Amino acid sequence: MMSTAVSFLDEDVMKPDVNELPSRRKSALKLFPEMGKYQFEQWVDLLEKRTGMRLPYNRRSFLVTNLSIRMRQLGFGDYQDYYDHLHSGRDGHVEWDKLVHYLTVHETRFLRHEESLALIRDCYLPQSPSETRGRPTTIHVWSVGCSTGEEPYSVAMTIDDQMRKVGHEFYLGVIASDISRSAIAVGRAGFYSKNQVKAITPEWLSRYFVTLPDGRYQVAQELRQRVCFNHVNVVDMEESTIGAMDIIVCQNLLIYYDKERRIDIVNKFVDHLTPGGILVLGVGELINWSHPDMKRLNYANTLAFRHK
Ligand SMILES: C[S@@+](CC[C@H](N)C(=O)[O-])C[C@H]1O[C@@H](n2cnc3c(N)ncnc32)[C@H](O)[C@@H]1O
Repeated sequence: MMSTAVSFLDEDVMKPDVNELPSRRKSALKLFPEMGKYQFEQWVDLLEKRTGMRLPYNRRSFLVTNLSIRMRQLGFGDYQDYYDHLHSGRDGHVEWDKLVHYLTVHETRFLRHEESLALIRDCYLPQSPSETRGRPTTIHVWSVGCSTGEEPYSVAMTIDDQMRKVGHEFYLGVIASDISRSAIAVGRAGFYSKNQVKAITPEWLSRYFVTLPDGRYQVAQELRQRVCFNHVNVVDMEESTIGAMDIIVCQNLLIYYDKERRIDIVNKFVDHLTPGGILVLGVGELINWSHPDMKRLNYANTLAFRHK
């Protein structure tokens, strides 16, 4: 059973832990002053206030490493100076937007959780031409915590492929949102390396991607224009202009929050779902949650609910 404690020990932590760094880089980081308990608490409070995540003390090296990398880039040698800079009006806001990328985990990949995509295909979309009669011709999807775009594009390809199979004309609009503007920019551009697209079948690659002369792939314009990347902080959803959605996907994001915050976030997703719409979460990311408007979907190795 998954613990509800905030964990930054995702299998996917992309940025280096100081203990895993090569010794040359490790000694460079040692040039930074030790971060005392007061300093640590100050940074943890700031992170919690602005992202809702509370970093536990045992993740101190994660904070120090990633903070140090960014401070080094800017020429700051003192945590307090950098902290004060982040509170210095407009420049501070701009810098916070950059720092948040270093303090969040962006690991993702195409078709990452195939069962969830299969659930969307099998439990929400029509299965045959006869099932398309009377179906709405629009599908609105929200990928929350979309990172660099692999998740929303995977959902978009899954939906487009199924709708082609059943021959139903439809409009697909995907909102892909994240707190990191750097991640969003990558997703919006839609360039990926050969290694990043390795899970995609040749058929989908040729249909949904363009191969570039340098060997990279770019998501084809037709698919890209269906996916709209937006900056949304999930703990400030009220500030966003996100409307009613048919499918909401939020995976590998809730794990960074404590149980109360997870429930609060997911309850807000319910308000954004159309009747009959589905909410797809990461397996094990929310335990014992129920909502009067939502019914659990039974589909192997998934965690999903349908709006009644
Ligand atoms: C581990 S990635 C998961 C990406 C994708 N959903 C997947 O499962 O492959 C988590 C993403 O959540 C984003 N994130 C973290 N805190 C957030 C917040 N408060 N609001 C929106 N996105 C957030 C991070 O920037 C990161 O891109």
